[in-house]
Amino acid sequence: MTVPPSIIAPSILAADFARLAEEVRAVEGAADWLHVDVMDNHFVPNLTIGLPVVQSLRAATELPFDVHLMITDPRRWAPGYADAGAHNVTFHAEACDDPVSLAKDLRAAGAKAGLAIDRDTPIEPYLELLPSFDTLLIMTIKAGFGGQRFIPGLLDKVRAARRHVDAGHLELRIEVDGGIAADTIEQAAAAGADAFVAGTAVYGAEDPAEAVRRLRGLAERATAGA
Ligand code: DX5
Ligand code: ZN
Repeated sequence: MTVPPSIIAPSILAADFARLAEEVRAVEGAADWLHVDVMDNHFVPNLTIGLPVVQSLRAATELPFDVHLMITDPRRWAPGYADAGAHNVTFHAEACDDPVSLAKDLRAAGAKAGLAIDRDTPIEPYLELLPSFDTLLIMTIKAGFGGQRFIPGLLDKVRAARRHVDAGHLELRIEVDGGIAADTIEQAAAAGADAFVAGTAVYGAEDPAEAVRRLRGLAERATAGA
């Protein structure tokens, strides 16, 4: 297994939305990416933030934004997040009938392109699309809410993706999202994930930066032992 250094991406979904800039600064210097969950109350029942908040937040931090769009019609909205300076824009496979074409548009707009696979979606039909993407986000819960319990069985998709990525020498981050915490990150890393979203485990902690460092240590230990 060839795995690059781990990316830890705190999810601001678990932060205090009234103090977003402050909450983001609390993980600067410790985190690699800031995970921004955009939910539209259609693709998922929940509703969070959209482009205006992302634009304002972009000016408040140097951290690269990892935007996770849980929205219908990503074709219409995703490029706006690339234009707003997102480092990576991930949209859901279930919401898009031509993922490769949207990935091209995102790359043309200067962002990395990410494909997300929800809990009930098999990975196999998407493996051949991966050369068009920079990130593959595999949900380890059902998308929509933070604070849910990690589903270990979904790591089979991570293993399948890791085999495919290594066999094809693809440059692709395999990201896991949902229930990632000190007691689950090692199994996700051992399965082949190299980017880890953590909401509750970071912003629910007394010291968010320390929580990020701890998660990174655990992920790297698990990978070193793989
Ligand atoms: C849920 C979001 C996640 C969420 C994870 O659909 O995509 O990014 O913030 O939260 P935790 O880490 O609390 O499971
Ligand atoms: Zn997310």
